[in-house]
Amino acid sequence: MIKYISIFLFCLGAVGIFSAQKRTNLDEDWRFHFGHSEDAKADFNYSLVNIFSKSGGAENTAIDPKFVDKDWRKLNLPHDWAVELPFVKSEHPDLISHGFKPVGGMFPETSIGWYRKHFTVSKDDKKDRFEIQFDGIFRNASIWLNGFYVGTNQSGYIGKSYDVTDYIDFEKENVLVVRVDATQYEGWFYEGAGIYRHVWLNQYNNIRIPFGGLFVHADVNGKNANVNVETSVENKNLNPSNCTVYAYITDRNGKFIGKTAEQKLTLKVNEKLTTKQKISVSNPRLWSLEDPYLYKVYAVVKENGKEIHREQARLGIRTIKFDAKKGFFLNGKHIKIKGTNNHQDHAGIGSALPDYLQYYRIKKLKEFGSNAYRASHNAPTPELLKACDSLGMLVLNEHRLLNSSPEYVDQLERLILRDRNHPSIFLWSIGNEEGWIQKNDFGKRIAQSLIAKQKELDPTRTSTYAADMANEFNGVNEVIPVRGFNYRQFAVADYHKDHPNQPLIGTEMGSTVTTRGIYEKDEVRGYVPDQDITAPWWASKAEDWWKLAAENDFWQGGFVWTGFDYRGEPTPYKWPNVNSHFGIMDVCGFPKNIYYYYKSWWTDEDVIHISPHWNWNEKIGQPIEVWVNSNADDVELFLNEKSLGKKTMPRNSHLKWQVTYEPGTLEAIGYKKGKKISTKVETTSTPYKVVATTEKNILTADGKDATVVNIFIVDEKGREVPVADNMVKFFLKGDAKIIGVGNGDPSSHEPDQFLDGGWQRSAFNGKCQVIILSGKTKGELQLEVKSNGLASDMVSFTQK
Ligand code: GAL
Repeated sequence: MIKYISIFLFCLGAVGIFSAQKRTNLDEDWRFHFGHSEDAKADFNYSLVNIFSKSGGAENTAIDPKFVDKDWRKLNLPHDWAVELPFVKSEHPDLISHGFKPVGGMFPETSIGWYRKHFTVSKDDKKDRFEIQFDGIFRNASIWLNGFYVGTNQSGYIGKSYDVTDYIDFEKENVLVVRVDATQYEGWFYEGAGIYRHVWLNQYNNIRIPFGGLFVHADVNGKNANVNVETSVENKNLNPSNCTVYAYITDRNGKFIGKTAEQKLTLKVNEKLTTKQKISVSNPRLWSLEDPYLYKVYAVVKENGKEIHREQARLGIRTIKFDAKKGFFLNGKHIKIKGTNNHQDHAGIGSALPDYLQYYRIKKLKEFGSNAYRASHNAPTPELLKACDSLGMLVLNEHRLLNSSPEYVDQLERLILRDRNHPSIFLWSIGNEEGWIQKNDFGKRIAQSLIAKQKELDPTRTSTYAADMANEFNGVNEVIPVRGFNYRQFAVADYHKDHPNQPLIGTEMGSTVTTRGIYEKDEVRGYVPDQDITAPWWASKAEDWWKLAAENDFWQGGFVWTGFDYRGEPTPYKWPNVNSHFGIMDVCGFPKNIYYYYKSWWTDEDVIHISPHWNWNEKIGQPIEVWVNSNADDVELFLNEKSLGKKTMPRNSHLKWQVTYEPGTLEAIGYKKGKKISTKVETTSTPYKVVATTEKNILTADGKDATVVNIFIVDEKGREVPVADNMVKFFLKGDAKIIGVGNGDPSSHEPDQFLDGGWQRSAFNGKCQVIILSGKTKGELQLEVKSNGLASDMVSFTQK
């Protein structure tokens, strides 16, 4: 009984009152204006005024707090200005690779963005420390608060926090100014532009756990786990401090499990010390792909018996192991890495994704059996990692550049300190395809420095590097703990023979180019057939790599290039093609046929899928190659109930029939361990109705929640018309807004955004998509979808 009472009291204490810890989201009510990279006047006098000569003033520039910005555009973050701009046809390689958006050195008028935000801070908080946290800005962002220079973040991907305590104005409005300079690129794919992730104002006591200062990880020994809690505390007071630190752990519902003793810390002025404490958990519920169970760990700092800082981390208790011969093990269970590479943009919204979209995308990847995500080739947004932790998706987290200068070591350090508590992360990557250096001594030495940094900050994991090298060892591969292969799957077995103790993984594999719903190569429109038949010279088809990975234990597995199509890198075409074609799904997340190949061999679900569609009126009497993707043992195909023969499904492959086209029904019946599974495609009639569907029709009334509505054009019998391209118009009633539209057509030049309203998008091969952002008013919302001459549809949402 006493035990229960004390636990109860302890929990009450845990909820306790602490004065100086607050996290305020600053995404709302920004002002935005383009600057100019070549005309100083149009850049608000940026390079005409001597802004670094004296502290705290920059008169006659937009940095000056007195500057009047009321005519600037009002917007909320996240914001990507690149996606708002029209496409610009060009032969320039950087423009092609970035998706033909007018951002970069060639476009002085649309490559500098100024953002201003006004906010107030209460006088009562004068004793606190303040930090501004930017989760991601593309790129080279310089920041001022009330005219004081705060710092610059070169990286377009990894965020940065700045201590701004000394610049906060408690009497007047504070003015935060950000100048974003996107004239340089960091990648060779669409990168967006602007403040495209969240911004926070963090408030602390002078004695606090700094950014990244709570590190939790667990060792599992039989039926017990030891949770290691490493807590750093720093003293920014002007006097030494005696404080205490303890940590405790709860289950995901907040039920207390165990705690450490309270440890004393004596901190000198400006000193930072780290405590290492342990909590044991018996019979832990392990974090796995099927049951991504998350505990909560809290570290609490007290001074004079009063709580002054509490930091929380989610903890997944799990073990990971790479075995060079047997493969990868999660909690002692062999798991083949069935991964996808992905960039961060989505249809309609570019790189400015509401948090819900991260969950949507990870869920879509899991649906075809993918269990791992490579954040290629840069630090992902924090919410993506939260989604992976919560949904059970492993992550290969990648540093942008193979460079060990202080700038890039700092970027790696920020990445690891930010992310090392995520159970989903199973491996770090120190870089990708560094052609100048990967085979020489520079590459080797840089890799060593980065690996040393990784080991120092996170000894619980190891690193890989994505090498476009065959059976070659000199350079980075000599020192990298896990050898990464980008393509060159044919060389993996030989490499393994030569280096049997170095685990190896396919960091980029496959790379079939396909256009959803297209069955003929079309060089004019820039389309490639939607079958596993076309791969660039450096890459391979899905079947070529997966068979090898599936059948050989020394393959830890691999990551397909890519899960979703993304803007930029049109391959094998250029204009009018503005998107990549590599995705297993298109930019909206609509499956292509190869999705069913992977789903057949990556899941235990019953899969049977026929392609192409059966609307070929112009081809009556002509042969059509029909593919069936399935994991059945045998498959029999029927055209209008007439058998076209039964075939045995080769493992990790597909089946094909030559069929003379006649309209009607094509049916595939699969036999899987005696069980029948079937599917069919039918010749449809003409478009009759536009249908709208959503996976989520309850929205939080916070102005940040989002939902995806998928639109299908169907015939009178409700069958999707696979070639329909009708224009669809969207009308939203209620306090919410549409923030983007897309259709997965890699050559579409239609706008993704209609900032003045009038949202519309044509369907591409039967489908399109609209993304809705919630408002703050509780109540009902309705999205009406209309298309000329077709019956319309409506979806209702409850905002609460
Ligand atoms: C790789 C590269 C990727 C992407 C891909 C296209 O070489 O790492 O970023 O460009 O090729 O196939």
